[in-house]
Amino acid sequence: MNNIIYLDAAATALKPECVINAEMDFLRDSYANAGRGMCARAVAVDLAVSRVRKKVTDFIGAESETQIVFTSGTTDGMNRIAKIIDTILCRESLKDKTIMVSDLDHHSARLPFEVLRDSIGCNIVLCPMDEKYNLMCSDLPKADVFVITAMSNVLGKPQDVPSLIAAARKKNPNVITVVDAAQYVVHEKIDVKQWDCDFMCFSAHKIGADTGLGVMYIKEPERWERPDKFGGGMVSKIIGSAFSHSYEIKWEPAPAKFEAGTLPLTQIVGLEPAIDYLIEHRPNLEQIKYLYDRLLKNKNIEIITERDSSMLTFYLRNMHVLDFGAMAGAKGLCLRVGNMCAGWLHNLMGLSGTARISVGPWNTEADIEKAAEIIEGTVK
Ligand SMILES: Cc1ncc(COP(=O)(O)O)c(C=O)c1O
Repeated sequence: MNNIIYLDAAATALKPECVINAEMDFLRDSYANAGRGMCARAVAVDLAVSRVRKKVTDFIGAESETQIVFTSGTTDGMNRIAKIIDTILCRESLKDKTIMVSDLDHHSARLPFEVLRDSIGCNIVLCPMDEKYNLMCSDLPKADVFVITAMSNVLGKPQDVPSLIAAARKKNPNVITVVDAAQYVVHEKIDVKQWDCDFMCFSAHKIGADTGLGVMYIKEPERWERPDKFGGGMVSKIIGSAFSHSYEIKWEPAPAKFEAGTLPLTQIVGLEPAIDYLIEHRPNLEQIKYLYDRLLKNKNIEIITERDSSMLTFYLRNMHVLDFGAMAGAKGLCLRVGNMCAGWLHNLMGLSGTARISVGPWNTEADIEKAAEIIEGTVK
């Protein structure tokens, strides 16, 4: 192993052996495409995909496997949701509608809806936040679409998703609720039924599975009649005449109708052991508390997260955060520096960038001790 201390789990998690082995076994011994073959090997891949879909269904408390769509990640999921809403509600009806976003949002969650606003000309409003940057249920504006970041990737605090959704539905029973759970999923149990959200996304790579795979939960997949992507594996029938060029196309039922093209099969195979592993090995947040207590004493460090947050984020009084990241990195410490694709929150806090420590199940006490020494030595 190389000699680094990896404290950047919130960017992407290191992979446990069980995930690496599952993917290697699949690549070496069992590889075939899914949904396209009748031989025993192809059928075994179909069964594996179904098994993982069931695992995800249970993992997030969904009702049915038909609600689970494999995407390429949270970013892909959020962009697709904006597109699904755009095409289904149709531009005309969206014009006088209101989309609620928040300054907690990652660029991946907010930008697709900002762009939608730009192209349609609908309204955009902000979800109110308290002085600790928690989303507030009181004084919620009436919205037709509500984008909720379940846990900010800068502040690491779980938001009260079910209460926010209930409050938004009180204002408008038809509000479409979209939850970005990219960070939340690492630390807390997701229960989409209790949340009562219409859509939810997370990325597999943040929970120890591979890149290139994400999950998009859709509460009522048949409500969204027209898929947002088109290709192989999602058409059940084409009815009509080639001469007249008039066809009727019947989509497969969900989830296939939202999964055009070949799925990232190797990554899907790795997701099953990753979920089992995550449930048994959530990040040890005592390590964050230890670093919090220790770095709080340092006069050059200003911590912006709370002691019980899932991550530790700070800025430096005496040096630029990018210089700090490069210097700590040269000493073997991997952490995240910059605006963390959360530009709106950084603007609100009046900071150009911050440094973030996040831990995973691989981190030892020795890692944390050494990290504290490196940070203290770098900001001195
Ligand atoms: C809160 C949040 N949302 C969305 C994303 C985007 O995830 P991905 O890059 O895996 O699509 C991230 C990634 O850091 C995130 O932390």
